[in-house]
Amino acid sequence: MGRVAVVTGGTRGIGAAIAEALHKAEYKVAVTYHGDDEAAKKFTEKTGIAAYKFDVGDYDACEAGVAKIVSELGPVDVLVNNAGITRDALLHKMTPKQWSDVIHTNLNSVFNMSRLVVEGMRERCFGRIISISSINGQKGQVGQTNYSAAKAGVIGFTKALAQETASKGVTVNAIAPGYIDTDMVRAVPPQVLAQIVDKIPLKRLGKPEEIAAMVVFLASNQAGFATGATFTVNGGQYIT
Ligand code: CAA
Repeated sequence: MGRVAVVTGGTRGIGAAIAEALHKAEYKVAVTYHGDDEAAKKFTEKTGIAAYKFDVGDYDACEAGVAKIVSELGPVDVLVNNAGITRDALLHKMTPKQWSDVIHTNLNSVFNMSRLVVEGMRERCFGRIISISSINGQKGQVGQTNYSAAKAGVIGFTKALAQETASKGVTVNAIAPGYIDTDMVRAVPPQVLAQIVDKIPLKRLGKPEEIAAMVVFLASNQAGFATGATFTVNGGQYIT
């Protein structure tokens, strides 16, 4: 294949599964991470995929990080905006920092990274921008005004950019996972999580690999007619 793919937040959880699936499909893969050096080291040792440390919510850091990736792997053909955090709280208890941290990492990152790769994609007349939204950006979730707003924002961003870039061979799509078996979901209080799983028609959490498979499809040539869409992968929990 030889195309270059960048996965943000790619050393753990859904991002790691996406990076590994793209690697298996013979993309040249780079992942980004911000906090957990130990997880990044283990991920690179296990997979051979290079990990680049920078804050995807910070435009200048992204500019330097993307330049480094391009110099080492080549121009970016596929961008997967996956990095995300939760800072759950009911709005009447939410701090301005809980709000802005989530918007910074989950939404500003999508602008930063897409802005830095889209010009090259347009020039080369090929590109894939795939952003990980969430079921909670589609339906809203108690305790997640920050996260739901950011993830709904990703869907609006996707629809607008898809129209801007369609004539240049650059497709832009979102995936809205439901509750997937990752550290993030396991951090939900156990009794709350049990109630959530009970409401999923498939009666289980999703697997990171089930999101990764959708990314590999959307990155492929075969997905060239799909753009501006949000692909729901949630076990039937919320049917749009
Ligand atoms: N609907 C309406 N009200 C609710 C509610 C619900 N589902 N859940 C809790 N409440 C109300 C309670 O009834 C209670 O109200 P009163 O005080 O009036 O009785 C009030 O909220 C406080 O409840 P708690 O004591 O539980 O409040 P808390 O502040 O300790 O925690 C919470 C509230 C932050 C919402 C907590 O319940 C929580 O973390 N919930 C999980 C949220 C969630 O699903 N997050 C998803 C994370 S995974 C992810 O985001 C990945 C993805 O993309 C899917």
